[in-house]
Amino acid sequence: MDRRDCIETTGNRAEAFEAFDDIPTNPNLGRTIGDVINARYGRRDVLRGMLGVGATTALFGTSAMVAPRPAAAAEVSRYAFDELGWGNDTQHHVAPGHVAQVLLRWGDPVLADAPAFDVANQTAAAQLGQFGYNNDYVGFVPLNEDGSRGLLCVNHEYTNEEVMFPGLGRQDRADFAGMTKEIVDIEMAAHGGTVVEIAKAADGTWSVVRDGAMNRRITPLDTEMTFSGPAAGHERLRTNDDPEGMSVIGTVNNCAGGMTPWGTWLMAEENFHGYFWTDAVDAEGKAVPDSGNPETTSYGRYGVPGRWYAWGREYDRWNVDAEPRMPNKFGWVVEVDPMDPTSVPVKHTALGRFRHEGAETTLAADGRVVVYSGDDNRFDYQYKFVSANPVTGDKAQDMQLLSEGTLYVARFDEDGTVAWLPLVHGEGPLTAENGFADQGDVVIDARRAGDLLGATPMDRPEDAQPRGDGTAYIMLTNNTRRTADEVNAANPRAENAFGHIIEIKEADGDHASETGTWSILVRCGDPAVTEVGAQWNPETSASGWFASPDNCAFDADGRLWISTDQGGNWGRTGKSDGLYGLETEGAARGTSKLFFRCPVGGELCGPYFANDGHDLFLAVQHPGTDGTTDLVGFGRDSTFEDPATRWPDFDPAMPPRPAVVVVTREGGGKIAT
Ligand code: FEO
Ligand code: CA
Ligand code: CA
Repeated sequence: MDRRDCIETTGNRAEAFEAFDDIPTNPNLGRTIGDVINARYGRRDVLRGMLGVGATTALFGTSAMVAPRPAAAAEVSRYAFDELGWGNDTQHHVAPGHVAQVLLRWGDPVLADAPAFDVANQTAAAQLGQFGYNNDYVGFVPLNEDGSRGLLCVNHEYTNEEVMFPGLGRQDRADFAGMTKEIVDIEMAAHGGTVVEIAKAADGTWSVVRDGAMNRRITPLDTEMTFSGPAAGHERLRTNDDPEGMSVIGTVNNCAGGMTPWGTWLMAEENFHGYFWTDAVDAEGKAVPDSGNPETTSYGRYGVPGRWYAWGREYDRWNVDAEPRMPNKFGWVVEVDPMDPTSVPVKHTALGRFRHEGAETTLAADGRVVVYSGDDNRFDYQYKFVSANPVTGDKAQDMQLLSEGTLYVARFDEDGTVAWLPLVHGEGPLTAENGFADQGDVVIDARRAGDLLGATPMDRPEDAQPRGDGTAYIMLTNNTRRTADEVNAANPRAENAFGHIIEIKEADGDHASETGTWSILVRCGDPAVTEVGAQWNPETSASGWFASPDNCAFDADGRLWISTDQGGNWGRTGKSDGLYGLETEGAARGTSKLFFRCPVGGELCGPYFANDGHDLFLAVQHPGTDGTTDLVGFGRDSTFEDPATRWPDFDPAMPPRPAVVVVTREGGGKIAT
């Protein structure tokens, strides 16, 4: 796809460039439901707030419609709440009997000396003390017995300049003509992460503790980090500013993550390729591969340089023309000790280098730590890491565990088994003859190692959540580029517009097992439209089914919760993104219920259940930006001056702000019980 085409036709910045970076696929083999809907309901033709029902009615007649049915009987459902109705509007909504409090917004001061947010007079210095943009992963570390004080750990994945700065608009569509070094610095200061103390009052209300001793911002502007594992100090990590290959400034595109059993925070570096710049571009603005750079073949597999941001125009370290190896320092999992604000974050290379969506941990039967992580790209792979040594209970010692172990990539076989293939130098094809001189090369080029091992190309592996009993759930968000020739048992739909969820049962209930079985828990999309090919428990209501699963979590009672990110394609369903309770057990397995809805243009990140399921942290990311051309009554792209919603402030002087929301029960108690 032409760069401009893909930018024009996909609303979400990350998705636009993922599409641009796609591995070429076979020619389309025929028209599918996606083609039919897109052809008949092009975004310029119709304001599609009701497409999910309206379009399917138009295309397939009213027989395709299902009347809303009551939620599963209370004695069956383990999710005790009255389901929300589906839709999309400027507000957030939570199931009755619950309170959703906006806790932290972009720009809110999180350091004691930070100034109040002044959207009209932003500076990088101010942003370095304020909550960053596009909150994604949320974790919580309790600081007292009842968890009424704790540290919130939040990733800030990326920035949307068109709704952050007055008069700027989408700069990637304008060859960054309006960008200045000061705006670049503000963007960098708004990325990364935040550790901030929060406290719960007797009335259940949470607030930020501005002078919390552990409060800190982590950014790609000024936070120094180090490396552990097989690629630490590797020749391919040595740069002009770091001849030892042992340090780097910052982390980018921190999407989901995880909390370790020893209380540290893992930040996953996802679309790192987009931050690297080159001056060598063709007439369409696409980077021209540099034959003089020994990393060019590797970079081709990773989509480097993506040229999403102008940072490399201002800083050599984001410019592959000046620092040809710098991209090898990104695409890792970063460990942060939130209890020590002076600690140096560590990039753990043993976990491999790819577009890590998340990094959720659990324990193997023998106490070793296991980390599940997906590579969020069309046709890329699901991985897990198993540490060499077990957890000891000594935090300093346990913080070494992610430095040594075995990285595996998944092959999903047609007979329902999953084989975890070790990425070990010298074994199988991972040899010097194939370009892997050592284990450092294997982890740096984990994708190419996975190619050679015969891993299964997936429909964009997003978050993966282990339960601790050998069960894990894998979110495959969508992949409209998969052709009929390219389907496999674990990715069974061509032009998969709505995604699916795979359940893995590791052998012997042990997360360290090298084999297991797998099955598809649900195929997402509208079950009332036969051509979609969705599969849900029939008890799922018209509000309960969803599309594009992204993040997931278990609550204290082992119930699975799924949050969605349809990007600019929510018009295909008519539904905003949200949080759903999804049954995994018994007769109700595959039944989904809608618990929380985002405001238009936002995706839902988190979720994180804390304090035995009494507090639920949700991150509403990029409200007002995605697919707003489909919002009835709005029908255009959002800008700073003219956004589709001004959530959560609804102040005419304030654009929409990404924010963390905390959900509690009215009057106290566990959520959804
Ligand atoms: Fe950052 Fe794959 O979501
Ligand atoms: Ca995500
Ligand atoms: Ca996402």
